[in-house]
Amino acid sequence: MDKPYYFLHVEDDPLDAEYVETQLAEAGISCEIKRVEASDEFRNALEARPPDLILCDYNLPRFDGLEALKIAQETPQQVPFIFLSGGIGEHLAVECLHRGATDYVLKGNPARLIPAVRRALEESRIKRAKEQAERELAHGEKMVLLGQLSAGIAHEINNPITYINLNMETLKDYAEKLQALFNAGRELTLHAPSRAEDLPKRWEEIRQWYEMNDKRTRVLIEDLGRLAQETLDGGLRVAEITQRLRRFSRQERQEAVEVNLEECLETALKIGWNEIKNKARIHRHFPAVMPRVKGHPNQLTQVFLNLVVNAAQAIVGRGEIDLEITRENRQAVIRIKDTGRGVAPETLSRLFTPFFTTKPAGEGTGLGLYVSRGIVEGHGGTMRAENSPTGGAVFIVELPLISESMGPHGL
Ligand SMILES: Nc1ncnc2c1ncn2[C@@H]1O[C@H](COP(=O)(O)OP(=O)(O)OP(=O)(O)O)[C@@H](O)[C@H]1O
Ligand SMILES: [Mg+2]
Repeated sequence: MDKPYYFLHVEDDPLDAEYVETQLAEAGISCEIKRVEASDEFRNALEARPPDLILCDYNLPRFDGLEALKIAQETPQQVPFIFLSGGIGEHLAVECLHRGATDYVLKGNPARLIPAVRRALEESRIKRAKEQAERELAHGEKMVLLGQLSAGIAHEINNPITYINLNMETLKDYAEKLQALFNAGRELTLHAPSRAEDLPKRWEEIRQWYEMNDKRTRVLIEDLGRLAQETLDGGLRVAEITQRLRRFSRQERQEAVEVNLEECLETALKIGWNEIKNKARIHRHFPAVMPRVKGHPNQLTQVFLNLVVNAAQAIVGRGEIDLEITRENRQAVIRIKDTGRGVAPETLSRLFTPFFTTKPAGEGTGLGLYVSRGIVEGHGGTMRAENSPTGGAVFIVELPLISESMGPHGL
């Protein structure tokens, strides 16, 4: 049967290696050990098969123990690392631990070696189990969110699709009726009476037919227009929902560039101007030197557009919207504050859930904030909402700064 553990032992002296192997075997730690001596050999062995533990002689003729530690730390697995040494001073030992070694043990001290190995293995087992649990949790949360999102999409799209289908059936029925009417009318008018004295009779028939059908036809035709418009609206709504989601899922494909935040905000104002102009005056509080961030200008513009339009829509009558860009704690902070009705405290936490909207049915998609937060998080930032002490809501977007932009004056 395979041994449960696999250790790498960085050691130039085969006798020392054998001694350690015996100690481990006597303690009942069943493991396969591979001995390596040089840095290349060590690297290759690490790559070929990640070990459960690394034991390393501190004083190696061919390479240095600390170098081995560094190499081990470059691997993604974070294998526990124990130094074994014939003579390592207190000072050096502390330095090793400081640099990330799991433990150090003096050679020829099995009383220390075995507990150190056991402890390292147990710690790494717990760490792996924890990581696994975290991964499963994160995956579970993602699945729950995906489930909610799909249910939301299904619900939102179902309504317009239902009436599109109903309308189409009615339209088909109307088309048949109109066709029948048209045929009947044509029949009536096509065949001229053979005798002149029959003419007034035929004329009377046509007149009666017309009187009977005129109102019906007019109602039908008017209804046609209405049905077509409703169907078109439904189609547009479905298209809007799918487009928003598609843009959202496409966001990571383009290359990130340095973003001009002021420009993004101004573009958002321009695009949303129709919604804003009759509702709010805009006040800009922009710094002389803009904080520099990296990302996707179009996406950030989309975020700001949703925020300024939301702000305008929240304003009853006329009000103000304050746009502020600042630099705080290595972040660019964008605040969009309005003098609107604010957000009820119990809804604050729900604003960012997909399809949450307080707008009348058929108006808002309730995807704006959900998609916006996704974009901001995709930029390594955060987004939240608060009620402003002076009334109205504040939406705060924080984006990480480009690190090279840190100058001596903090600009
Ligand atoms: N500035 C604000 N003040 C008060 N409530 C807000 C504000 N911004 C958003 N909300 C609330 O959050 C809800 C969700 O906003 P979101 O942008 O996600 O969707 P929406 O605006 O309703 O729809 P869409 O963005 O598709 O037009 C809004 O319906 C509104 O109730
Ligand atoms: Mg919105």
